[in-house]
Amino acid sequence: MQWLVFAILLVSTKTAPSVSGSSLVTFVFGDSLTEVGNNNHLQYSLARSDYPWYGIDFSGQQATGRFTNGRTIGDIISAKLGIPSPPPYLSLSQNDDELLKGVNYASGGAGILNETGTYFIQRLSFDDQINYFKKTKETIRSKIGEDAANKLCNEAMYFVGMGSNDYVNNFLQPFLADGLQYTHDEFVELLISTLNQQFSRLYQLGARKLVMHGLGPLGCIPSQRVKSKKGQCLKRVNEWIQEFNSKAQELVETLNGRLPSAQFLFADTYSDVYDLIDHPTAYGFKVSNTSCCNVDTTVGGLCLPNSKLCSNREDYVFWDAFHPSDAANEVLAEKLFSSLFSAAPPPKPH
Ligand SMILES: *[C@@H]1O[C@H](CO)[C@@H](O)[C@H](O)[C@H]1NC(C)=O
Ligand SMILES: *[C@@H]1O[C@H](CO)[C@@H](O)[C@H](O)[C@H]1NC(C)=O
Repeated sequence: MQWLVFAILLVSTKTAPSVSGSSLVTFVFGDSLTEVGNNNHLQYSLARSDYPWYGIDFSGQQATGRFTNGRTIGDIISAKLGIPSPPPYLSLSQNDDELLKGVNYASGGAGILNETGTYFIQRLSFDDQINYFKKTKETIRSKIGEDAANKLCNEAMYFVGMGSNDYVNNFLQPFLADGLQYTHDEFVELLISTLNQQFSRLYQLGARKLVMHGLGPLGCIPSQRVKSKKGQCLKRVNEWIQEFNSKAQELVETLNGRLPSAQFLFADTYSDVYDLIDHPTAYGFKVSNTSCCNVDTTVGGLCLPNSKLCSNREDYVFWDAFHPSDAANEVLAEKLFSSLFSAAPPPKPH
């Protein structure tokens, strides 16, 4: 029901006389699943994908800093909304007019917690990304004035995809403090209370329409499967992820009750992703238990220039040990889009 209301509001904003379809502004916060190239600008970051074979199926076969062979889910959703995929924040100058049209702050290796992904040396944590959004808002205010800036920020859509690294590159790493220090119950409480502060801060900065993309079955990604005896999904990890998702959903509902005119949504895509992995052939795929790029999970699991690729990239759900392929992103974006916007026909680009 909540989703329906949201879809109607989004579409009615877009069809209001003063707003043209191409003026929908989106701000994207996230990790490597949504990054479009911020880490290319972090000189010492080890979480990078600006080299072959990343981007081999992107336009111009460019390695842009996306952690997949082609498009991210965000790229595909933007195209469906008829807007360009927002550019990486760090590619823009401080005073760039582009900042008014939407920005992507996502950064590979980033987490809800600041300490997540420390071994990547540099990445933008969710707090860093919100700090950059605050700066963005100051620039927008200096360009169009206080009232118009507030209106722009209230009407914009905020997409947040965070939390995978808090598991994969923090809690599930046996040598890191958080996995040793906390039980899972304690860890999930820490994540949710931190998210609560982060969402409240985004609200104070003007966010009203926000979609939090829930976590997928991380126990089934190739980097986790190799830890099992026979390459199967790690059941306990998947149970933890479902616990996180249900608590994040509760948080979002609580915030909607507490913050006037907040329309925050939790998009629980867990079962869609699980179904794709469990029944790849039903979606036209052949392999979901290992990645197209023949990665070495003992040295990180990213697709390196000397890695061998599979012969047909569309047959694989996973591109590397962590990230879905372009073809899988297409399937997942389709499902997310129709659940977000099912109450009304998709807005047409102008
Ligand atoms: C995390 O780091 C950010 C920016 O560096 C800082 O503003 C924030 O207070 C930190 N959060 C915590 C919980 O330490
Ligand atoms: C993936 O599944 C196939 C078919 O069930 C199996 O033959 C293969 O060994 C599995 N690969 C891995 C890496 O677990």
